[in-house]
Amino acid sequence: MTLLLAFDDEAALAAKLGAALGVAPRLVARHRFPDGETRLTLPPVLPERVVLLRGLQQPNDKLTELLLAAAGARELGARHLTLVAPYLAYMRQDMAFHPGEVVSQRHLGALLASAFDAVVTVDPHLHRVATMDEVVPGRRGVALSAAPLLGAWVASRRERPVLIGPDEEAAQWVQAAARAHGFDAGVGRKHRRGDRDVVLELPPLDIAGRDVVLLDDVASTGHTLAVAARQVLARGAAAVDVAVTHALFVGDAVAALHAAGVRDVWSTDTVPHATNVVSVAPLIAQALRATTDDG
Ligand code: R5P
Repeated sequence: MTLLLAFDDEAALAAKLGAALGVAPRLVARHRFPDGETRLTLPPVLPERVVLLRGLQQPNDKLTELLLAAAGARELGARHLTLVAPYLAYMRQDMAFHPGEVVSQRHLGALLASAFDAVVTVDPHLHRVATMDEVVPGRRGVALSAAPLLGAWVASRRERPVLIGPDEEAAQWVQAAARAHGFDAGVGRKHRRGDRDVVLELPPLDIAGRDVVLLDDVASTGHTLAVAARQVLARGAAAVDVAVTHALFVGDAVAALHAAGVRDVWSTDTVPHATNVVSVAPLIAQALRATTDDG
């Protein structure tokens, strides 16, 4: 028997995941003390296998609780602990881009490997480190992709769209989304000069009069996609929509996208957001069943 544990701010995804797995999720109870510390309460007796759902958007706020919950779960009987982090933070800092920079991906991975037996995530930003097994050394790492789900969503909404990824790293997701539906597709090149300052060179596809869908793994400030949207509209695209796996969308990111001419913004529910249209719950449930079957 596997227990699914989740935090209250992700109860919606937990319910969908529970329904897909045929289990009722249990919530971790949290009490926030006036000084900012948190008391966590788990079900007092846990089965051998526990799955903890915790997306790592706003990771700095969540990591302490996550590590405490994992350690507590082991004390209460969990022998095999799986973290389902639909969004896994700190994956983009996978090397020291400047001398002295901490390689956050490596150290966050080691921390998760010390606490969990397996880590399941969706569209992690893997680039120089290619697999989740490498991110969590000695543990089972599973990287799922929501790109085919987003591709199917786009196919249900647009006829003959052109799919464009803003940078080379998006090629994996663009290809996966385009493949099943025969979309025209391509990726650009990105040079990032600052948090809100990117220069893009989009692929030389003929997009005049076409519906363009910009596809990426994650949107944070939305700046990358806004720059891309302005460029495709300037090149004569009929309309531009956006589809992302992880809707971080900080601040006024969605408004900035619409101001840049974007029509619809679509995302999966890896990160709870008003733009969520596709659920990753069935995808995660299938992976969890396979992980359990493998022992
Ligand atoms: C990085 O390469 C990612 O794939 C995204 O393109 C990036 O994180 C988007 O960031 P922002 O929305 O802040 O431009």
